[in-house]
Amino acid sequence: MITDYGLEHFKTEERLMMDMHYPKAYFDLHQAEHKNYIFEVAMFNTNFMQPGHTEPKEVINFLKSWWSSHILRSDMHFSLFIRKILSS
Ligand SMILES: [Fe+2]
Repeated sequence: MITDYGLEHFKTEERLMMDMHYPKAYFDLHQAEHKNYIFEVAMFNTNFMQPGHTEPKEVINFLKSWWSSHILRSDMHFSLFIRKILSS
């Protein structure tokens, strides 16, 4: 299922954020993005067997867009935070 990888990845990432004392405001925003992804993907899964379900191409476009945007913006922000901590 396409939610499995996301759930495990998000859990690991959020645990690391807490361990690294990532500021709460950034953590909350980041976690909200993860929760939104889980909700959207769960809806795709739920609706998959229903008539008029989302076309697979639209699901793929959502996944590509969400992951590239999240990685380049939010995950990168956390990555820079870790680098700053480790270099100080
Ligand atoms: Fe993330």
